[in-house]
Amino acid sequence: RVVAVIMVGGPTKGTRFRPLSLNVPKPLFPLAGQPMVHHPILACRIIPNLVQVYLIGFYEEREFALYVSAISNELRIPVRYLREDKPHGSAGGLYNFKDYIMEDDPSHIVLLNCDVCSSFPLPDMLEAHKRYGGLGTLLVIKVSAESANQFGELVADPVTNELLHYTEKPETFVSDRINCGVYIFTPEIFTAIQGVFTQRKDTANMRRMNSFEALQSATKALPVDYVRLDQDILSPLAGKKQLYTYETLDFWEQIKTPGISIKCSALYLAQYRYTTPHLLASGDGTKSATIIGDVFIHPSAKVHPTAKIGPNVSISANARIGAGVRLISCIILDDVEIKENAVVIHSIVGWKSSIGKWSRAEGDYNAKLGITILGEAVAVEDEVVVVNSIVLPNKTLNVSFQDEIIL
Ligand code: GDD
Repeated sequence: RVVAVIMVGGPTKGTRFRPLSLNVPKPLFPLAGQPMVHHPILACRIIPNLVQVYLIGFYEEREFALYVSAISNELRIPVRYLREDKPHGSAGGLYNFKDYIMEDDPSHIVLLNCDVCSSFPLPDMLEAHKRYGGLGTLLVIKVSAESANQFGELVADPVTNELLHYTEKPETFVSDRINCGVYIFTPEIFTAIQGVFTQRKDTANMRRMNSFEALQSATKALPVDYVRLDQDILSPLAGKKQLYTYETLDFWEQIKTPGISIKCSALYLAQYRYTTPHLLASGDGTKSATIIGDVFIHPSAKVHPTAKIGPNVSISANARIGAGVRLISCIILDDVEIKENAVVIHSIVGWKSSIGKWSRAEGDYNAKLGITILGEAVAVEDEVVVVNSIVLPNKTLNVSFQDEIIL
């Protein structure tokens, strides 16, 4: 039996995702028309003997209630949100719900960060994990040497795949192989986390006995029940024949900013071609808009037949796209209206926003602020141009802007 656990974090974690995370928890922000967390959940579905999926986070329960009940019905696998009263770290959060997770007596626990975009090769990883016979297996990928320091860098044995060395976001270069935030563990992971708690308690007691040292290190100490999977578990267990790696050659991205989410939407849309082609707009028939490349259009959205859409466009529920509109590489959220002859390129248009006739929203990944983002209920009036800008919710723009944050 396998239990999957997806770490969704909480409101203090998705801050780089503002202003979009002001409306919706980051894990529910849509990529390729489906909530971010939906993609790892779908990937879990094909794991043999999967009995339960848990989402663990410190968002309010009600924020996930609707999604969790809808997805449970759709998958016919119970998906449940478990709320931490406060952040316990990526391993502490898991440990907090040990009793729930162990209720099903799993032989394996699949643990996923929710803010990664990947093809999640879980069944193959699980097979590899069983062959290695260790406590855990990490998904790893090769990245450019310049970008590696944003992640956990690691060294593995090229023959046995054993994890030999692990450093979280190191200041000096260690390796271009990084931790993807996708793991398979045996239940012994709980013993390893328990070990960190015990060690912390012992150190805290020692400090209490030595008040001078306590004074010195009080600011450095982490709460006893706060355990990070990377620094506190993976680093010390590396080189002890307990952890192994499984390298993916497929796509992988970390989704920390809205700009990256457009790129991740493209990756998931491309994956739909193989997994769920019915989700891609076909554009055939004289009454439908011109579709270029991979495009998702929610069935409730209305798109004028003279609009030209794609590549990499996702249009959410109840959006209305007018005549002559051109959309390229963008995410259009629920209830948006885009009026005649407007153009949207490399941008995210927030819930209930509107873009006027002959207006233009355009972003550039290489600009200082990156893509253009319109928060919820932003109104761009007719013939206004917004370039490389971030617009906070409820603004009305009647003049053009470039490279600005509009508060
Ligand atoms: N429930 C809960 N509680 N979730 C948490 C908590 C917590 O206290 N802290 C973090 N998380 C979740 C985050 O939402 C995210 O999905 C995951 O755990 C990891 O978050 P961080 O610990 O903030 O690490 P990171 O995202 O900067 O980096 C980790 O992931 C990278 C891959 O994306 C590290 O493991 C890196 O080594 C790795 O490369």
